[in-house]
Amino acid sequence: MNIRRSIAASFVLLASAAPAMAQGDAAAGRSSYGVCAACHGANGEGNKALNAPALAGQSEAYLTRQLNNFRSGLRGGGTGDTYGAQMRPMAMSIASDAAVANVSAYIASMPVQNEAHDGGGDAAAGRGNYGVCAACHGANGEGNDALGGARLNILQDWYIIRQIANFKSGARGSAAGDTFGAQMKGMAATVANDAAAANVAAYIATLSN
Ligand code: HEC
Ligand code: HEC
Repeated sequence: MNIRRSIAASFVLLASAAPAMAQGDAAAGRSSYGVCAACHGANGEGNKALNAPALAGQSEAYLTRQLNNFRSGLRGGGTGDTYGAQMRPMAMSIASDAAVANVSAYIASMPVQNEAHDGGGDAAAGRGNYGVCAACHGANGEGNDALGGARLNILQDWYIIRQIANFKSGARGSAAGDTFGAQMKGMAATVANDAAAANVAAYIATLSN
């Protein structure tokens, strides 16, 4: 066994794995979360009155990408994206890429909060609609970092319904360079109408987290 070659090979592996891993420092990110708590809640549970989604337990890679997308304008700058526009300046107030990675690591480490779901919808009917979603978001809504699919089983139904509407209208996922958003925009187009969106969100609410 050529030790030097195997060490070199493991460096190549590490180097290729690095970009996919956000590698933030959760302890360092904790203090930056203070300002976020005003809207997203002290435990990352979200706040419907402020239109802020639950964040606790979301994928670190997804969080990092969203914060960077808000900062660059890939998200939150679209026509009609009222709530994304509110979030954008918050993301822009985060000092650096390292601070984004750290706060993302902290949020990902927070225990999932189970908020009440109130969007109505027929979960049994939504189960069938969810089949296509599972390919990228996982059978249990656990998310899929390799495909960029967000974790859905931590989200409130009203937020899911709004995001589907935003992808459908182009308020989200239309900016040039928003590769992952564009993929989801295509999928949202397959959700027939508001009732179907409410049904699939009701089904996601039944998935264990
Ligand atoms: C003034 C209220 C407010 C504050 C403060 C705030 N946010 Fe938000 N945030 C929102 C709203 C509203 C949305 C929903 C945007 C939408 O509907 O697209 C959001 C969305 C997000 C998302 C996208 C979630 C997803 O599932 O895609 C992330 C990530 C996020 N916020 C992180 C943060 C972080 C980190 C901070 C602190 C640095 C923060 N927010 C501070 C209001 C706020
Ligand atoms: C081809 C893969 C793919 C399929 C299939 C897919 N999605 Fe997505 N979805 C994504 C990606 C990628 C994102 C992240 C977009 C981004 O980074 O802004 C996303 C984001 C979302 C979001 C926003 C999450 C958040 O936290 O803001 C929701 C809600 C969502 N998808 C619901 C669905 C539903 C419901 C279905 C089935 C009807 C579905 N998706 C099918 C790839 C997919």
